[in-house]
Amino acid sequence: MAVTWTKSLITRKRVWKDGLFTITVDAPNVLPFTAGQFLQLGLVDEENHIHRPYSVASPHGTELEFYIVLIEDGELTPLLWALNEGDSLDVSERAAGRFTLERAPDADNLWLVATGTGLAPYIAMLRTEEPWERYQRICVVHGVRHEQDLSYQDELCAYGEQYPGRFAYVPATTRDEFSTGLQGRIPSLFEEGSLEEFAETSLTSTDSTILLCGNPAMLDDMELQLERRGMKRHRSRAPGQIVVERYW
Ligand SMILES: Cc1cc2nc3c(=O)[nH]c(=O)nc-3n(C[C@H](O)[C@H](O)[C@H](O)COP(=O)(O)OP(=O)(O)OC[C@H]3O[C@@H](n4cnc5c(N)ncnc54)[C@H](O)[C@@H]3O)c2cc1C
Ligand SMILES: NC(=O)c1ccc[n+]([C@@H]2O[C@H](COP(=O)([O-])OP(=O)(O)OC[C@H]3O[C@@H](n4cnc5c(N)ncnc54)[C@H](OP(=O)(O)O)[C@@H]3O)[C@@H](O)[C@H]2O)c1
Repeated sequence: MAVTWTKSLITRKRVWKDGLFTITVDAPNVLPFTAGQFLQLGLVDEENHIHRPYSVASPHGTELEFYIVLIEDGELTPLLWALNEGDSLDVSERAAGRFTLERAPDADNLWLVATGTGLAPYIAMLRTEEPWERYQRICVVHGVRHEQDLSYQDELCAYGEQYPGRFAYVPATTRDEFSTGLQGRIPSLFEEGSLEEFAETSLTSTDSTILLCGNPAMLDDMELQLERRGMKRHRSRAPGQIVVERYW
């Protein structure tokens, strides 16, 4: 189906660190969507319209957030990174994707596991009522290369205060010493028991739903670990515990 584009103004650009940023766009024509879905962002470069999918890092509204990392040799992200407040870009009017809580089974615990910008759909979900109404305890696991890549920390830590005893934030770095979080890749941390220990929450087939988003190697490795513990992909006709979004 042909994409309908809406020209949208950037109202804010927040730079978390060089090359890692969130843009807020004024996009009143985007049709209502569900938290976790993605839109296309596009720009014209030398007469070519270049566009890519991006999870919306906010629920539906007139202003929408996108959390983006610059891929130096990429086609679109160098153009997006160069934009500033007051510039405009194309946003698709209609969202797509099945990575939503509507498609996630009920459980006691909801694990939201991301690497890098895979955090974006969870920020959108956590800003809605749904996860808080459906799950007793929510754990956000964010795996990044460096401590500086841990964006949205203030917002995430605030959930712990807003929902005492119901929220755990588990930051993990792979390339830095890290005194206040975990160190290592997410699947290994799960295998050795550190994830559950740090979050003070169990992750089993009987008590948890787990969403995975970001680097496809992490998704594959983590799914393998989860399968070893008796968990499987959730499908409407064959219920399981795992819901996955691949970024590339
Ligand atoms: C459903 C969906 C949602 C997405 N949501 C986001 C999002 O919220 N934020 C975001 O930054 N990207 C997101 N992406 C990735 C995005 O669509 C682009 O692929 C990315 O921005 C690179 O575009 P590019 O043209 O600069 O690079 P390309 O020329 O397309 O190069 C792609 C290469 O860059 C690497 N890469 C791509 N995306 C990432 C990433 N996010 N983190 C680390 N390495 C990456 C991979 O090695 C990939 O092969 C999403 C992708 C999908 C399929
Ligand atoms: N992040 C930034 O601030 C930033 C800024 C500017 C440009 N960039 C560019 O963005 C690209 C990468 O971005 P990124 O660091 O956000 O994403 P990434 O390469 O996907 O890395 C994110 C995290 O995923 C981990 N990971 C990789 N494979 C895994 C696996 N099999 N299991 C579990 N975890 C795994 C990485 O660990 P390892 O460290 O062990 O690989 C890292 O901790 C690069 O091109 C980089 O140059 C990044």
